[in-house]
Amino acid sequence: MSLRISVIGTGYLGATHAACMAELGYDVIGVDVDKEKLAALAAGILPFHEPGLPELLRKHVGSGRLRFTDSYELAANEADIHFITVGTPQRADGHGADMQYVDDSVDSLLEHITGEALIVGKSTVPVGTARRLAARIADRARPGSEVALAWNPEFLREGFAVKDTLSPDRLVYGVDGQQPLALLRRVYAPILSAGTPEVVTDWETAELVKVAANAFLATKISFINAFAEVTETVGGDIKTLADAIGHDARIGRKFLNAGVGFGGGCLPKDIRALQARVSELGLSHTMGFLAEVDQINLRRRDRVVSLAQSMLGGQLPGKRVGVLGVTFKPDSDDVRDSPALDVAVRLFNAGAEVSVYDPQGNANAAGRFPRLNYVESWQEAAQDADVVLLLTEWQEFRQLQPEELAEVVAERRLIDGRNVLDRAAWREIGWDITGPGEKYPQEEL
Ligand code: UGA
Repeated sequence: MSLRISVIGTGYLGATHAACMAELGYDVIGVDVDKEKLAALAAGILPFHEPGLPELLRKHVGSGRLRFTDSYELAANEADIHFITVGTPQRADGHGADMQYVDDSVDSLLEHITGEALIVGKSTVPVGTARRLAARIADRARPGSEVALAWNPEFLREGFAVKDTLSPDRLVYGVDGQQPLALLRRVYAPILSAGTPEVVTDWETAELVKVAANAFLATKISFINAFAEVTETVGGDIKTLADAIGHDARIGRKFLNAGVGFGGGCLPKDIRALQARVSELGLSHTMGFLAEVDQINLRRRDRVVSLAQSMLGGQLPGKRVGVLGVTFKPDSDDVRDSPALDVAVRLFNAGAEVSVYDPQGNANAAGRFPRLNYVESWQEAAQDADVVLLLTEWQEFRQLQPEELAEVVAERRLIDGRNVLDRAAWREIGWDITGPGEKYPQEEL
């Protein structure tokens, strides 16, 4: 019998997972409460930017293998495996994760499941969630139904979502029996046959793997950014330092790019939720270093703002600032917790006239901070600027030429917030250029 799958929550993770499950050949129903989003998805339109995903979505909406609904009843009746991919945002009243959407989606499924089913959690959750949900299932499942639970965290990166789903580095399943494991192995058979490593474990480990991975990545970024603070004070070259330690295979060069720090919908909230969770468990000191990781990361934004101020002789009010990039990283239109957008807004709040250009992020940024001047090209953003800030390393900005930018600006001042430009080439034609990890001579220390 062919596998019938539902994917509950059609945000970034869910829309990707649903389209990729259809690509593997399954009949998939995507479930969400947001009718507008469902209508767009059913028309093959994605509400966010993700290379390759619109094509996949249209292909499988077209083939009839991928449907969307707001009916849990339909999902319960027409699928046997239900992936939970709803959001677990930071709580409004603290650092912990808001579990309302996970709990609601499980409850709604339980109301309608009458036969055998497997619920598979993919959302990033505090450790202990699966065990708590298992008790909830035991308590609320309809009489006669048989509902099992597995935890199968997702490690996809924005910008590489399809590739990361169809060719992941590993598959991790937290299970409490042979049957859920056998079903997951059937679901992922086409991926496993490509030699993808498989980690079979218990619920708690599976939940922790996800947050441990993100905490490690965040720590790696803050580690190099802490050294950037040192080289900014004493001198030295942060990129060479990263290259040199990165040659050691035990360390590795990836995620050692000093810059304006990490942002997005995952790393910042996940390190906070992890600290909150271990504190609840009575281990308040255990993840204390993550508070430092967070602080180092946030100081990166302060540093760029103060650098801009120093470059402008201490004066921000009335100065024209061109901002290139507002998304939290390239190839994404996501501005959640974006260091770039935060810096742009702070400069605006300090009285600067801020023009912003991002290849994909303008609309989302304008939705949050409508008062910045959003423009359609880097030329417009940099027009008559007293200083230009490159804050997200889109390919378009990596390729900028010093002569081209010099034609539009008022003053040749540039902060390369992601360390992607060849500073010597820019200095050759008179640019005052600097960036993270570099000691800036005029800076008031
Ligand atoms: C991250 C993880 O990389 C994924 O494995 C995970 O599945 C995902 O979170 C999630 O939990 O859903 P993502 O948020 O898409 O993925 O972004 P990353 O590529 O990890 O980048 C995060 C931030 O770190 C970006 O702001 C990026 O600019 C910054 N970064 C990255 C640096 O500042 N320096 C680096 O060297 C690398």
